[in-house]
Amino acid sequence: MSRARQPKQRVRTARQRSNASTRWLQRQLNDPYVHRAKTEGYRARSAYKLLEIDAKHGLLGPGRRVCDLGAAPGSWSQLCARRGLEVVGLDLLPVDPIAGCRFLVGDFRDDDVQGALLKALDGRVDLVLSDMAADATGQRIVDRLRAEELAEAVLAFTDTVLRAGGDTLIKLVRGAEPAARAAALPRFAQVQFVRPPATRKESSEIFMLGRRHNARDPSSSGRQDPMSNENDRW
Ligand SMILES: C[S@@+](CC[C@H](N)C(=O)[O-])C[C@H]1O[C@@H](n2cnc3c(N)ncnc32)[C@H](O)[C@@H]1O
Repeated sequence: MSRARQPKQRVRTARQRSNASTRWLQRQLNDPYVHRAKTEGYRARSAYKLLEIDAKHGLLGPGRRVCDLGAAPGSWSQLCARRGLEVVGLDLLPVDPIAGCRFLVGDFRDDDVQGALLKALDGRVDLVLSDMAADATGQRIVDRLRAEELAEAVLAFTDTVLRAGGDTLIKLVRGAEPAARAAALPRFAQVQFVRPPATRKESSEIFMLGRRHNARDPSSSGRQDPMSNENDRW
């Protein structure tokens, strides 16, 4: 993303502020996506990840119904709403209202919460987005296993809510791709992994894109050779 070159802002270390929060603040002040989000009225810079993925892969087609998991503070839902799409979102945290969107508060891993979500969705959707992330422990293996578990729960949910031919975009951490791919392939005609330019270089996040859900029993065999599954290049 290009932005007129501006002098890098430095943050003076306040006595009460930890080095980590000073670094965070400095990064925010110098991040073009943060500035753009402020100018364009998005609640978070993450809007640009979905925007960039959509520009390349065309997920947010007109008239689509969307389920947005891990919706807070709401920038993905905002983008969908700006495209005129109908959204039902879920998060552990409340999301401030957005016209055209409905939000539930709860833990996606809870069966009752999924039941309430299904009720709110009231029919199948065309797109399931998941930007949910389990709290990072700093232990790579634990974080990867948690991401895999969450992704598998989202994939199981797509069987219930996605219409045939629907798509999903699920956030993972690097290293979780093989397990996620194995779980996604019986369900989707195409599976690929994307890292949009808005993802920070130092971040371990990567998104799995599943296209064209078969809306059948996922135990039936996959339609894509796993070995032919190339990662996306930006
Ligand atoms: C990176 S933020 C999402 C940002 C959002 N896509 C946006 O653009 O504004 C991740 C969100 O996932 C939520 N989350 C994590 N685990 C969850 C769970 N098990 N159930 C529901 N929400 C969850 C967190 O509360 C957090 O708000």
